[in-house]
Amino acid sequence: MVDYSVNGSVALLLVNNPPVNALSHAVRKGLADGMLKAEKDRNVKAIVIAGKGRTFPAGADIREFSRPKREPWLTSVGNNIESSRKPVVAAIHGTCLGGGLEVALFCHYRVALKSAKVGFPEVALGILPGAAGTQRLPRVTGLPIAFDMITSGRHVSADQAKKYGIIDEVFTGDIVNSGIKYALSMVGKSTIPRRLRAVQVPGGENVQEYADAAMAQVKKKYKGYQAPVYCVRAIKASVEKPYDLGVKNEETLFKVLGQSGQARAQQYAFFAERLVGKWQMPGGNSETAKPLPVRSTAVIGAGTMGSGIAVCILSAGLPCYLVEQNEKFLNNGVKTIKALMEGSVKLGKISVEVGQRAASLLKPTMSYDDLTGVDLVIEAVYENLDLKKEIFAKLDKICKPSTILCSNTSSLDIDRIAVATNRPEKCVGVHFFAPAYHMKLLENIYSTRTSPVTAATVMKLGKTIGKVPVLVKSCQGFLANRMNTPYGTEATFLVEEGALPWEVDQVMEDFGMPMGPFKVRDLSGLDINVKITEEIAKTFGIKLTDETRFVGGNRYSHLNATLVNMGRLGRKSGKGWYKYEKAGGKLATVDDEVISVLERHCRRLGMERRTVSSQEIIERLLYPCINEGFKILEEGIAKRPEDIDISWLYGFTFPKYLGGPMYYASQVGLDRIYDRICHYHEAFPYSKHWVPSLLLRRLSEQNIPLSQWMASPGAKL
Ligand code: 3HC
Repeated sequence: MVDYSVNGSVALLLVNNPPVNALSHAVRKGLADGMLKAEKDRNVKAIVIAGKGRTFPAGADIREFSRPKREPWLTSVGNNIESSRKPVVAAIHGTCLGGGLEVALFCHYRVALKSAKVGFPEVALGILPGAAGTQRLPRVTGLPIAFDMITSGRHVSADQAKKYGIIDEVFTGDIVNSGIKYALSMVGKSTIPRRLRAVQVPGGENVQEYADAAMAQVKKKYKGYQAPVYCVRAIKASVEKPYDLGVKNEETLFKVLGQSGQARAQQYAFFAERLVGKWQMPGGNSETAKPLPVRSTAVIGAGTMGSGIAVCILSAGLPCYLVEQNEKFLNNGVKTIKALMEGSVKLGKISVEVGQRAASLLKPTMSYDDLTGVDLVIEAVYENLDLKKEIFAKLDKICKPSTILCSNTSSLDIDRIAVATNRPEKCVGVHFFAPAYHMKLLENIYSTRTSPVTAATVMKLGKTIGKVPVLVKSCQGFLANRMNTPYGTEATFLVEEGALPWEVDQVMEDFGMPMGPFKVRDLSGLDINVKITEEIAKTFGIKLTDETRFVGGNRYSHLNATLVNMGRLGRKSGKGWYKYEKAGGKLATVDDEVISVLERHCRRLGMERRTVSSQEIIERLLYPCINEGFKILEEGIAKRPEDIDISWLYGFTFPKYLGGPMYYASQVGLDRIYDRICHYHEAFPYSKHWVPSLLLRRLSEQNIPLSQWMASPGAKL
């Protein structure tokens, strides 16, 4: 897995382990053998290490982490490289990440192609650099940059890496040739001054100050995650301990983290994210269906959602028409888009050039006739079936036959929209999450008539615009909202029974959710939730009042509506479940008036308030969602638990260190989850979400672990 060749007096060690040249055992052995051979060959005066194909090694082989460690480990391979008296040059292209960057830091010189990226993404896998990276990077960059790069895991461009001192020279063209020439220019020079182990860490005298600042930062930014905290401790030791002891310390921390539940969950999430790209649907899959080219697009509706979607498309360099029927709305949309893009430039999310190019690709219009030749249209008007059908019918008449018509809907049946057209196979749902320019999940929904080629096109588009696309079958609420509904519903029932909103929020924030359910509801507006419930009640012929206890045979609480009737709409009205009087109306504080509302509500319904434990809060909010997740698998709405987990990680910011709700369920134990669901079903027979899933029952009764079922989905059904 390492091709060895000699070019004149330079030995070339070319790592050849596609697709990303991961540093598997065979690669490490190949590098060690190659170094030995080059050392022994008197004709060899310098050595170049590079990667074949698309990249320099992008890190250790993550799949090996679950197996026993095999020698040679990367650190001993690196020690051999460093101690060589012949100059060793890393010639970097593609993504030089994790163990790959560690190999490069053992080399005496590092040159890179201009397009290359370097970084330590280990933290995203719940671990830290484990081959001296935490000891060697600070010796090159100084402490602040090392703390930042290693705790954030961010990728750094070759030019930036040169400024940081990581890269010695940046080249264009053939990087292996440049590396060989560079190595030749170093022949005869002593390698001793280039051995990082002997270098003092710049800024080391202020280590405590830098480490305190880094620790405060990671505890705030990555609340609940262990790895960034361990990274800070490991880097700090680069100053406080001699090199070898610092490496030993890193090894210990690496081992502890590697065996942690967080690391296992985060590595599961890494592979799950890749798996969702390998989708299947009736009649096709990601292997067989080739996406249609999308070179031009249009978004119908310049509201918050439409504008956010347009920003995603434009930022990816795709031209986009923005369509509104009213000039004022259109101008507002254009203003919103420009403001969002300026914000992205200011935050450094996109470069000034990308921002300018994106702005030039926006084509505001009030005429559908401009859309004749576009490849793909996303309708993003409000949730109203008749309006969406009308727009689809119009688009069907105007657009060329190959145009794909997408609806940004969070709940409407795609089949019922597609019937308005003569191209149902080209109609598909694309559910963006608010705010659309920020949230990474893109839930793509196929109907009974959507073709695999259409699905392939929107899955590819999702990736192009920087989202994580997940493909699901159309049903009420699709995957994400259908599964998430009991979360909010149960939160309200809990406060009706005796918990306080801030207690529920605190428990869920301690669990790892960035915001508790009541703060989320205040943020999005209580009136929205009430309107949706009223619409559902109407379909049962019910007008909601504070006496209503059931809707369609399901338990109902009027608490949200009571608050709305009191003018408590959430943050936008200065009060909702909390009051917002501080920090410019942004800080949620406890409000005694809400306690009075709850007590009055319970007295009227004759409900005695009780103490609710933290465990019950977690179970009542999450277990019905998990139950629904199993029903979603049972019905084939999602094909694999990974589709569900990724939807929650990127749609609802479920903590990655817990892997996602289905992975979390497997860790709690399906028996336990099933027992508790049965318990709550008995206690609350009027909530359909507590009716246990058949699949969950079967897995629990037959004692089949979810992981085993994951490996052979369908087989045990
Ligand atoms: N180990 C094993 N497999 C890996 C891998 C790794 N480090 N990195 C990527 N792969 C696999 C992926 O699972 C995928 O497999 P599949 O085709 O079977 O699904 C395939 O390689 C291609 O990966 P992507 O689809 O992600 O390809 P992209 O081109 O989109 O991205 C990448 C390439 C940026 C390199 C991305 O794969 C990535 O971020 N990889 C992980 C990098 C990383 O975390 N490195 C650190 C590893 S830990 C380490 O080095 C510890 C050390 O300090 C001791």
